[in-house]
Amino acid sequence: MLLHTIKEVREQVKEWKKRGLVVGLVPTMGALHAGHLSLIKKAVERCDRVVVSVFVNPIQFCPGEDLDKYPRTLEADTKMCDDAGVSIVFAPSPNEMYGEGQISSNDFLTYVIPPFFYVNKLCGKSRVGHFDGVCTVVNKLFNIVQPDFAFFGQKDAQQLIIIKKMVKDLNIPVEIVPCPIVREESGLALSSRNKYLSDEDKKEALVLSKILNNINSCYKRGLTDVDALKETAYSFLNEHHELEYLEFMNQDDLEEVTIADNNTRVFIACKVGGVRLIDNILLGE
Ligand code: PAF
Repeated sequence: MLLHTIKEVREQVKEWKKRGLVVGLVPTMGALHAGHLSLIKKAVERCDRVVVSVFVNPIQFCPGEDLDKYPRTLEADTKMCDDAGVSIVFAPSPNEMYGEGQISSNDFLTYVIPPFFYVNKLCGKSRVGHFDGVCTVVNKLFNIVQPDFAFFGQKDAQQLIIIKKMVKDLNIPVEIVPCPIVREESGLALSSRNKYLSDEDKKEALVLSKILNNINSCYKRGLTDVDALKETAYSFLNEHHELEYLEFMNQDDLEEVTIADNNTRVFIACKVGGVRLIDNILLGE
């Protein structure tokens, strides 16, 4: 069922809750691919009813980012959800979510701001305000759907860690379920933004997973010094790649580490053909 208004979703969820049904939420920005489908399948397995939100959230895009050209494929998304057993696809307009005119100015909207320690690094460094927008919309979706479980991909690992922190700090009654990264056979992590890559760029984009896999192999062979592990990345880079960051952090609290262990997550962001791609790996996995 495709719904566009908060009121309709609330009414439907209220009815489910009355019957004691377990509700799952998969928040997305649409352009659904096999990565999303893996979250949806997990949700359908675990919950009696599943809501998938499809909303390209304007307040998480920074000036100059791809808000206007972000792929929008609602018809195909709805079909994929229907086939997978989703009960509601919730696709609100920006005005429905934020009220007429509210998003044009920060002065008129209440935001959820995650802690500086979690956002002044990795993607938060170049995407200033991005996680404020993510936390605000996810919090709103939690309030609208009131899910028992919410499913997020490990691909956006910083986002996942920040959302878990928000849920804990704000006592939101939802269990966050992390879901593993889905990759093409080549190793490329699935992303809606892969649509922007030419065939040639797609080959060059393998640099992210290659660097991560190589670091993990070195770690498994006993190398734990982070500087030495970082060094191993440089031989993979060429003029097609614009490395934004390669960082080693504790996966629970995003504290930077100098000696890696099995709780260290390696995060990479690299531009290929002008497209900014991210990936990550948990060492020892
Ligand atoms: O990961 C995403 O697609 C978005 O950041 C999310 C969680 C749906 C919020 O808009």
